[in-house]
Amino acid sequence: MEEKSYQKLKEKVQPYFENAKPCHDFMHTERVLNLALYIGEKESANLEILKLATLLHDIAHQEQDECKGEICHAEKGAEMAKEILDKEGYDKEIINAVAHCIETHRFRNNKIPKSTEAKVLYDADSLDAIGAIGILRACSFSGSIGSLVHNPDVNVENTKRYSKDDSAYREFLFQLKKVKDTMLTKEGKKIAKGRHKYMVKFFDRVNKEVRGKL
Ligand SMILES: [Fe+2]
Ligand SMILES: [Fe+2]
Repeated sequence: MEEKSYQKLKEKVQPYFENAKPCHDFMHTERVLNLALYIGEKESANLEILKLATLLHDIAHQEQDECKGEICHAEKGAEMAKEILDKEGYDKEIINAVAHCIETHRFRNNKIPKSTEAKVLYDADSLDAIGAIGILRACSFSGSIGSLVHNPDVNVENTKRYSKDDSAYREFLFQLKKVKDTMLTKEGKKIAKGRHKYMVKFFDRVNKEVRGKL
């Protein structure tokens, strides 16, 4: 793929993120792109398919947010990507491969990432939710819903997600801790292990600081 045609496509895609929420804005796509290309190279993925799929993977996220989750941004995004790439003159084979990656990037409702590129996109996208960047995203999200800065004595069984008792720490205990066990590629597993270790260390320090021990 020529850099010029990729840049043209990027400019077409950016407006879809104009009113996106911070956790899924265009910077999220750019971070996932950096990571996907790094992992993709190690996993011998087709980088053209991977680059296109990553650029377009969250194109329908804003639409999903606006209709409060009634549509699935992965399924809708795959349809939209097909149309966009068809208009740009991409081959059918590439379009279908890209659509598969986008459609399965949430790994839900029997939509399973089967190709190497789909597995790499799934891993890169999930990895953006953990590690140092994952903590920042979790803080940004909990701030946006007015939940706690920190709840050191949180018992996840007794609190609800998206409630006042929610916090980045609760998100870590309830969701982010599990991400390392969901990786589909060797390189993804390696990166997840490092990011997980960082989060454990970070929250351990936070818990010490709030108890006046540091
Ligand atoms: Fe997504
Ligand atoms: Fe994403």
